[in-house]
Amino acid sequence: MSKKTAPFRTALVTGADGGLGLEVARQLAAQRARVILHARTAELGERALKNLVTGGAQAERLFVVTADFADLGQVARMARQVAADHAKLDLLVNNAAVFGSPTRTVTADDHEITFQVNYLAPYLLTRLLWPTLTMTPGSRIVNVSSALHRGGRLHWGDVDSTKRYSAVAAYAQSKLALNLFTKAVAERGGADLLAASVHPGLLATDMIRNYTREAGRPVSEGAAAVLHLATAQIEDGGYYEGVAASLPNTLMNDHSSVDRLWKLSARLVGLAA
Ligand SMILES: NC(=O)c1ccc[n+]([C@@H]2O[C@H](COP(=O)([O-])OP(=O)(O)OC[C@H]3O[C@@H](n4cnc5c(N)ncnc54)[C@H](OP(=O)(O)O)[C@@H]3O)[C@@H](O)[C@H]2O)c1
Repeated sequence: MSKKTAPFRTALVTGADGGLGLEVARQLAAQRARVILHARTAELGERALKNLVTGGAQAERLFVVTADFADLGQVARMARQVAADHAKLDLLVNNAAVFGSPTRTVTADDHEITFQVNYLAPYLLTRLLWPTLTMTPGSRIVNVSSALHRGGRLHWGDVDSTKRYSAVAAYAQSKLALNLFTKAVAERGGADLLAASVHPGLLATDMIRNYTREAGRPVSEGAAAVLHLATAQIEDGGYYEGVAASLPNTLMNDHSSVDRLWKLSARLVGLAA
């Protein structure tokens, strides 16, 4: 089912210092959006801002915020800053992610890093920006997922992969969780907050260079798909591959799992469900 479409005026893009996120920010800036660039550090954020300005973007429409998603305290601080500095938020692109390390790595919050950076951090960021998003008519969330989510399993009793770890399984689980979260946002967001998940394609970024020899498509194609979902008529809570609606892992259509994950995540980040 489609709700109304809306243009974006202010957008937050996570992981905007390189790869797909930087290109999404570039395309948004080219459409005269005010773009909040998230980066892990101020240095990386300022570098991205300069890069965009060199390419013709207006510096006064760009803003840098920082947080290491491996530290949920930093995510919360960043969300509070965005909410304080921007009364409205038309678009949130949850893009920042890692493709896990060969050996299991644990964050300061005691979570497996892939689960935290790719899922728990965007969950927390979105929840804390919920009032701002829902007060902005026609706002949207685009969650950057992956087709690899289809092979994923949610290990309800062990989301942090303490018993068994592989980088691919942890990545697939994190993206499956993000897709279920997209559904939950659609269910809870009311008429004025739309959400979609997107597999942006196999793109030529640092992420794939680390695990495949395939060249990957130009990053501009993935960014164009994200912008399409930010403006076009879309299925609220839907999963897309590029601009085409696609079949997700069947768990995404299981309401009780969607609800269960929302509640589990709330507990893990210390929020009310
Ligand atoms: N490339 C592909 O073929 C492909 C395919 C399917 C899905 N995707 C998805 O597309 C999105 C963008 O990926 P990409 O290909 O552009 O990868 P990328 O070039 O590696 O970019 C990932 C972004 O996430 C940020 N990030 C990673 N760990 C972080 C942390 N702890 N705290 C804050 N930020 C962190 C990175 O920041 P740093 O620069 O500080 O590391 C970077 O800005 C991801 O969600 C990915 O899963 C990509």
